[in-house]
Parts: sequence; C-alpha cells; structure tokens
Amino acid sequence: MGSQAVVFITGASSGIGKATAILLAEKGFTVVGTSRNPDRCKDFSFPLVQMELTNPESIQNAVNQVTEKHGRIDVLINNAGVGISGPLEELPIEAVKNLFDTNLYGPIEVIKCVLPHMRHQNTGRIVNITSIAGYSGLPFRSMYSASKSALDRATESLRLEMKGSGIQCCTIAPGAVATNIAQGRFHAPVLENSPYKATYGKSLEVMNTHVDHGVSTRIVAEKIHKVLCKRNVKTHYTVGSWLQRFSVHLKSVLPQRWYEYMLAKFYNL
Ligand SMILES: NC(=O)c1ccc[n+]([C@@H]2O[C@H](COP(=O)([O-])OP(=O)(O)OC[C@H]3O[C@@H](n4cnc5c(N)ncnc54)[C@H](OP(=O)(O)O)[C@@H]3O)[C@@H](O)[C@H]2O)c1
Repeated sequence: MGSQAVVFITGASSGIGKATAILLAEKGFTVVGTSRNPDRCKDFSFPLVQMELTNPESIQNAVNQVTEKHGRIDVLINNAGVGISGPLEELPIEAVKNLFDTNLYGPIEVIKCVLPHMRHQNTGRIVNITSIAGYSGLPFRSMYSASKSALDRATESLRLEMKGSGIQCCTIAPGAVATNIAQGRFHAPVLENSPYKATYGKSLEVMNTHVDHGVSTRIVAEKIHKVLCKRNVKTHYTVGSWLQRFSVHLKSVLPQRWYEYMLAKFYNL
C-alpha cells in the first residue's frame, strides 16, 4: 500500500480514530476522517466530513464527498463505535438496537458504499476495528461482545467473497485502550433492587479501570499502519496488553469451564 493512498477513517474525532488519522497523515497518506460534528474538529491536522453511522444517507454523502474530492478510496478504516454495559436482562432493547446500528449495521453500510469504488480500482483495503471483547462473551458486556463478534464473522465472509478482486480485508481487535469510550458508553444503571447490583457494580469498576489503564492510542495507530504496509494481510490481528491478547489463545485451547472460571475470577464474580 503506497503512502499516497487515500484513507477514509470513520470516527476520527477522538481516541483510536484520531490517533490513526494523525499518524497516517504524518506518514504521507491522504486522510479523511468522519465525525457527527466535524465543526468541533476545525483545528485538526486532517479534514473531517460529517457522518452519522445510524443514517445510511449520511454514510453515502460522506463517501461521495471523499470520492468527489480525491477520485478514489484506497483504505477504509471502519473505526467508529460505541460501548454498552449492563446485565443483559436489564438492557433496554432500544439501547441494544442503537448499539448494533452503530457497531454493526453502520460499518456494513460504509463497506457497501466504499466497495464499488475499490472494485472499480481493482484494489483496496478494509480494516474493521473490532475488539478483544468480541472473542468472548464478557460479563455485563454481552451486546458489545456480540456486536464486535458479528463484525469479526462478517469480515471473514467478506474476505472469502473478495478473493481475486484485489481487495483485502481484516479485523484489528484492540484490548483496553485509554480513550473516552467509557464516557460515550451506554451504562445501564446499577439498580438498587437488582439481583445484579453487587456483581454488576464490581464488574463495572474493573471495566472502567481497564480502559483508564489501557495502552495508548498511538500503539493501536502504529499497529494499523504496520498492517496497511503488509503486502498480504491476515484475517485477524490483536493489539493491546500481552495478557489480553493471550486470552484470545487461551479461549481456543482451554476447556470452556476453565476459561469461564478464569473470566469470573478476573471480573470479581
Ligand atoms: N477504547 C477501547 O478500550 C477499545 C477497545 C477495543 C475496541 N475499541 C473500538 O475502537 C473504536 C474506537 O473507539 P475509541 O475507544 O477510540 O472511542 P472514542 O474515543 O469514544 O471514539 C469513538 C468515535 O466514534 C464516533 N462515533 C460514535 N458514535 C457514532 C455514530 N453514531 N456515528 C458516527 N460516528 C460515531 C465518534 O465520533 P463523533 O462523536 O465525533 O461523531 C468518535 O470519533 C470503537 O469501534 C471501539 O469499539 C475500543
């Protein structure tokens, strides 16, 4: 992937997306990011267009703006996403639907808008930012894990469908990264009379501490850059602390009961 390539990064107003956009622009890529409110990002070193992932028309408009200005999109980094926490039993279904609109259906819509351009070019890269939380059903993060896991599976299918097209796709799954994601996350409240009050309260503390002590966004950005520089990309990559990356391998080798026991201990359940 040449460094003159045009890179489209969703959710570049903060966190991983912003760090990646800055790094890739430093490396000479032509970068366009997105935000729901790009006016707040006027002092950024790269341009942003308006895009709301829950609105297909807004996604098409954003892609059109990039292709009209640059004539092509070489790399799509499907990064924008949100979190959700709470006992599955107590999560309002509207919040779950909004999560899937943002973390799954939105990114799929972006891929559908970008692919015709990549197909015309006979080349392209699609990087879907998933999560190590998508490799396991984590407690009180059921729907977040499920949304990222679904994007993982969709990427595997797309990769096979793209065989021979010159278009390569992969996922990059970060572990905990120090960003504002916890602030933007939908938190089901810890209810006074809930049977989950003690366990959810404790798990929420562990979850938030992880994000606060997560790796820096620059490390994730460097990983994304490294993957873009590869001639042939693998299906899945992870980035983050050694233990979180190792947990992905543990899940595939340990008996399910042992793995569950380990997760329960980790989350103070
Ligand atoms: N931080 C972590 O520990 C961690 C770990 C694993 C995976 N991830 C994944 O990494 C990605 C980036 O997260 P982050 O930690 O960098 O979070 P962040 O700092 O909160 O950034 C999220 C980005 O997504 C955009 N966004 C949110 N909702 C949107 C919507 N409905 N439509 C369009 N854009 C929307 C936001 O843009 P505007 O608000 O400007 O629109 C923002 O730029 C996410 O997919 C997340 O699931 C994060």
